[in-house]
Parts: sequence; structure tokens; C-alpha cells
Amino acid sequence: MLSTEVKRRLDSVEQLLPQLQQLLTTMQHQDLQIKTKSTERDLVTKADVASDQIIVDFLQKEFPEDSILAEESGNHTVNSNSDFTWCIDPIDGTVNYAHGIPLYSVSFGIIQNQAPVGGLVFLPQLNDIYRAQLGGGATKNGKPIHVSNHNNLKSSMIVTGFPYQRMEMIDQLTETIRIILKSARGIRRTGSAALDLCWVAEGRFDGHYEWHLSPWDTCGALAILHEAGGTATNQDGKPYQLGDTLMIASNGHIHEELSQTLLSVKYDNSR
Ligand code: IPD
Ligand code: CA
Ligand code: CA
Repeated sequence: MLSTEVKRRLDSVEQLLPQLQQLLTTMQHQDLQIKTKSTERDLVTKADVASDQIIVDFLQKEFPEDSILAEESGNHTVNSNSDFTWCIDPIDGTVNYAHGIPLYSVSFGIIQNQAPVGGLVFLPQLNDIYRAQLGGGATKNGKPIHVSNHNNLKSSMIVTGFPYQRMEMIDQLTETIRIILKSARGIRRTGSAALDLCWVAEGRFDGHYEWHLSPWDTCGALAILHEAGGTATNQDGKPYQLGDTLMIASNGHIHEELSQTLLSVKYDNSR
């Protein structure tokens, strides 16, 4: 059964978390050998690579039939008929990590038929584990979590993130912040999209929006958000699919107001 298979996988990766915690907290104080990727702001450290390798080795040993998409090492497709694909972000929040900021996460998503069916997001420095499997509810450290009840933007805390390719859309980003500053209670930027979505799932934030997220940023946390009662749509108001251009996520109650506000922004990126 699907839920048994997903649970078995999430239970298994939980055993790897102490090793990842030890690795990431120790390495943060070492020379990280920082390199850049798509832009000068998009970093990869030796800890991203080490975490990626430990996770991929573990999954290949435990679930040799599954495919894996990992941010730093790419696609490890073993069997095109395999039911499950893991979608892994070995450190979500690398820029925070490289600056000694404790807000970063490790994200495990499980995909079946292109949709997330399970997720586990681990925050090594806060020692928090968020988990969900389709139809089974969402938990934080084993206790059920649920989205907030705030039902208007005026009383909502919104979180966002900025894509590494930000110069092409700088006016859109700043105009959107301007509108949210005027309409919401507050706006935050944590530096880890997986963490942002988990904090929407547990009701700390009421909504999240961000352009150009990759599947590994969102896959695990999307399963958690949905199971906690939240919702996520894209630039066309359709259910968010991994890799869509814009993610608008919320507790559901403010979704229409938040979406309308974000999609009404006028901008001129050529300035
Ligand atoms: C980044 C984080 C950040 C978001 C960026 C992502 P990374 O992931 O999730 O919050 O704003 O768009 O790329 O590079 O730290 O894995
Ligand atoms: Ca990421
Ligand atoms: Ca990453």
C-alpha cells in the first residue's frame, strides 16, 4: 500500500538524521571551500556535496529500486518503472549556512506520478523534524501540526525568498514587497524555502510566495504543507506543480486575497 511504502521510507531516513546533524554542525566551522553555481550569489560548499553524497549512498543502499534527483549530484535513475523518486536538497539555505546562520534545512521529498506523496524536512540546528505522508497528516517532532486560522492579509505574516536570477525581475520583486508591506502584518525572509513552507504548515507564517523555486526546494515541504491543511498554487491560479514559475502557498484562508494581491502587481523590469 502507498502509505505503508512511504512511511517505511520516511522512517528509514530518520535514522540518517543524527549523522547529517553531526556532519553539518561540525563542517560549518571549517573551511567550506565555497564555489558559485548559476550566479555569483548561488553557492555550493563542501558540506552541500558531502551531505548530498551521504544521502544518495544511503538511499541507494536502502531502496535500490528507487530513483533519486539530488540537487548537487543530479539524476540517479536506476529503473524507469520504479514507483518512487526521491527529491533531495542536501542543504536548503546554503547562503545562510555559509554565513554561520542557523536557519537551514535538509529536505527529503518522495514523488509518485510527478506529485509529492511524502516529505521530511530536518532543521539540524533547531533539532526539528517535519514529516508527512499523503493522507496521514503532518507532524513536527511526532506531534500533529496544522496551518493557522488567520483569514485576512491584515493579520497575516508573509514570508518570501529571492531567486538567484533576481536582476531580470528586480522591479517585480520590489513592487511585490511594497504591496505586501502595505497589506500584511509583516514580511520575513528566512533563506530556506523548505523551512518557509514548514513554518506555514505549522502556523508560524500564514503565506509564502516565491518565483523560480526548484523541485528539491519544495518537494518535501509541499507534502507537509498539504497534509497540514495548506494550499499552493502557481502563476495561473492552478495547483502548484514542482518547478512552476511562481509558488503562492498559504493556510488556505488567505489564499484568494494573497493571490489576487500578488498577481495584481504592476512592474517594469527594464528600469
Ligand atoms: C535556496 C533557498 C532560498 C530560496 C532560493 C533557493 P539553496 O536554496 O531555498 O530560500 O530563496 O531560491 O534556491 O540554494 O540554499 O539550496
Ligand atoms: Ca534549495
Ligand atoms: Ca541546496
